[in-house]
Amino acid sequence: MSTIIYAHRGASKQAPENTMPAFELAYELGADGIETDVQLTKDNIPVLIHDENLRRTTNGAGFVQDHTYEELKMLDAGYWHSDKYRHTVIPALDDLLEWNQDKQLKLNIELKNNLIEYPNLEKIVCEKVKTYNMDSNVVISSFNRKSLKEITKLKYDIPTALLTSKRSNSLIEDGKQLGVDGLHIRYRLLSRKLVEKAAENKLYIAVYTVNQPFSLSRVIKNKCHALFTDVPDTAISVRNRL
Ligand code: G3P
Ligand code: CA
Repeated sequence: MSTIIYAHRGASKQAPENTMPAFELAYELGADGIETDVQLTKDNIPVLIHDENLRRTTNGAGFVQDHTYEELKMLDAGYWHSDKYRHTVIPALDDLLEWNQDKQLKLNIELKNNLIEYPNLEKIVCEKVKTYNMDSNVVISSFNRKSLKEITKLKYDIPTALLTSKRSNSLIEDGKQLGVDGLHIRYRLLSRKLVEKAAENKLYIAVYTVNQPFSLSRVIKNKCHALFTDVPDTAISVRNRL
């Protein structure tokens, strides 16, 4: 099977990251899946936003965790990208899962809990995925190993992946110990040897964030399971040419 193309935070070059327009555009461009980041509001609603702080991608200030969902809904998460996307709101995880009902794209939900630990985030996200019957479309990833251990323990039977940007000789062993299905690695960690060793240990390799034709082609030629890109249209043309 050919490398799965996930639109990283949606089609995040052409539209504001982690918003419904970015997801919609990824779908229109033909991405196989969508990668997104989830955090919890003060009232424990899972919302899709990358940074813990609201400053970079909204007109708000302070931390996601210090605002209620109602408060976050008032913010503009699109104006910073371009005028066209003024008045775009921060989506809840429900919005994405509901939207995907008739599309059935693959979804990579990253638990963005490497800097802030959100109590119960694992259970809240898994329950949502089950409620929308999306288990077979979803892989849950995280840099937070404690969190991945927790998901394995909860036995939701939803695929999981360990995210890493650090070179390590124990990566495969770590993945096995955590009970994850895959390793989502930064591009500079990619080597044929790692892909082969992972396969021998029944772990898949997915690579982030790959935007240049040369790197896209290298990931696909190495038969990686998936890649994450801000430019899904470029990735699709590279894959089609190989
Ligand atoms: O899931 C791959 C990638 O999204 C991880 O890094 O910082 O873009 O969330 P980041
Ligand atoms: Ca991410």
